[in-house]
Amino acid sequence: AFSGAVTLDGPSGTGKSSVARAVALELGAAYLDTGAMYRAATVAVLDAGVDLDDADGITRAVTEAVIGIGTDAATEQVTVDDVDVTDRIRGSEVTRAVSPVSAVPAVRRLLVDAQRSLVGDAVAVVVEGRDIGTVVLPDATLKVYLTAEPEARAERRAAQLGVTDPAKIAAIAADLRRRDTYDSTRTDSPLRPATDAVTVDSTHWERHQTIAAIVGLARERA
Ligand code: C5P
Repeated sequence: AFSGAVTLDGPSGTGKSSVARAVALELGAAYLDTGAMYRAATVAVLDAGVDLDDADGITRAVTEAVIGIGTDAATEQVTVDDVDVTDRIRGSEVTRAVSPVSAVPAVRRLLVDAQRSLVGDAVAVVVEGRDIGTVVLPDATLKVYLTAEPEARAERRAAQLGVTDPAKIAAIAADLRRRDTYDSTRTDSPLRPATDAVTVDSTHWERHQTIAAIVGLARERA
């Protein structure tokens, strides 16, 4: 059986979450979606009515919130102060606000600490996000940087949302670019591959091929 930690980082819209979850299930590993934690923190900020330019207000709202997330790949429930926000965190209101919230250093410190304790001493775990290989788990067994051409990412996200209108697909592509630029250029923990990461480009792959490639890499190392 696999033992160790697999980190999966990369830009938005690569299908990272569904790949990470499937890899965890195949490896019999625990799973942590750190993007869901930044999204839940964003719910707390929006509900507190804090301005997105107000770093102190954002930090206060996130400090006071109780974010509930599990590490079982088969369940994806997320709560904020015991309220189920599993669907809400995927909505456009949260998606628009999550990058500025996650760029606040004090928010990152809080969530990185929470992520490390959630991972704890799990024998096998898959953790996905933007800074897992670079910051959260620098000693991971396998670090994957999952990427795909921007057009492929926009098309996948559109298919996932059931969108076929070309104008709407273009808007999705613009949103992905905006979030990637924001995430890659922030000063604290920008999105970038760890120096010892394996880059997996899934542009021309079916989802199952990407999953098989990562499972194979993990088994080679453990
Ligand atoms: O992966 P997902 O799209 O759910 O992540 C939402 C946002 O949370 C990202 O665009 C990024 O701003 C932030 N994030 C982060 N660090 C992580 C995971 C997500 O800054 N480890």
